[in-house]
Amino acid sequence: MTERAERERSSYLFPRHPREADRLDLQHDALREALGSNFLAPVTEPGRVLDVGTGTGRWGIEVCWEHPRALVVGFDLMAGPGEHPSGYRHVRGNVLQGLPFLDGVFDLVHQRFLVSGIPLAQWPQVVAELVRVTQPGGWVELAEPMIEFLHAGPATERLLGIMRDMAASRGLDSTRVVFDRLDDYLRSAPLKEVTRHEVTCAVGEWGGRIGSFLASDMRALFTRLCEVQVGSSLSAEESAETIRRTQEEFEGQQTRVAMAIAYGRKPS
Ligand SMILES: C[S@@+](CC[C@H](N)C(=O)[O-])C[C@H]1O[C@@H](n2cnc3c(N)ncnc32)[C@H](O)[C@@H]1O
Repeated sequence: MTERAERERSSYLFPRHPREADRLDLQHDALREALGSNFLAPVTEPGRVLDVGTGTGRWGIEVCWEHPRALVVGFDLMAGPGEHPSGYRHVRGNVLQGLPFLDGVFDLVHQRFLVSGIPLAQWPQVVAELVRVTQPGGWVELAEPMIEFLHAGPATERLLGIMRDMAASRGLDSTRVVFDRLDDYLRSAPLKEVTRHEVTCAVGEWGGRIGSFLASDMRALFTRLCEVQVGSSLSAEESAETIRRTQEEFEGQQTRVAMAIAYGRKPS
């Protein structure tokens, strides 16, 4: 199936855009810096690693650099990165239709920011699929944001509301269910030694490097969503003005966003 057909059959929220890769890399850099690591599961020497919904492949490429003996597979609806280390492979596909890998192949399976791609009702089935391809004793790690922001101003709330409506119309989480249940999905899989961390990051220049990365990420994300909405709930001028106001609100209200990271181990 072509990349375009694969995307159209999926529930993924964000439209294709030439600068989407820059947004995803900014988001990756912010989170990597906030966590001080690419993953939190206690895996010191990963052998075979899978990153589901890998986006630009940046996470997997960095894991290759950090662990030169690892084989990292990035899996996504979209084509993979053009240039990558020799230990990196890309496989295209839709996780909602199952992963094209044998049982028990990977010792670390990672999935991040898929709240915008996996319908709420399908989370348990997708987590079961991640666990199926994990080797006994291996780890699954999930990382997802809270869709509600802390200290959001009215313009930010308005655009988040539009995003939530679009998500709900595709059966995606439009509240904070995935954020709240991330560790429960792993426990029910059932995985052992399930651990949950939460990190709260500033959005805006007031939060230094991470904050300014996230403010740019949010500006790009809102711009993408408004492009889809122009003509229905927002005019082009209203969109531009509302997005501009969000950036002021981030500084004035000291807006924050929370991420949950949960990992667990497949029984041996
Ligand atoms: C928000 S991006 C996150 C990218 C990456 N995980 C990161 O943290 O930077 C979500 C990615 O998941 C992919 N995606 C969405 N739905 C998918 C599905 N059903 N199967 C495979 N990939 C999917 C999208 O194409 C996109 O590249």
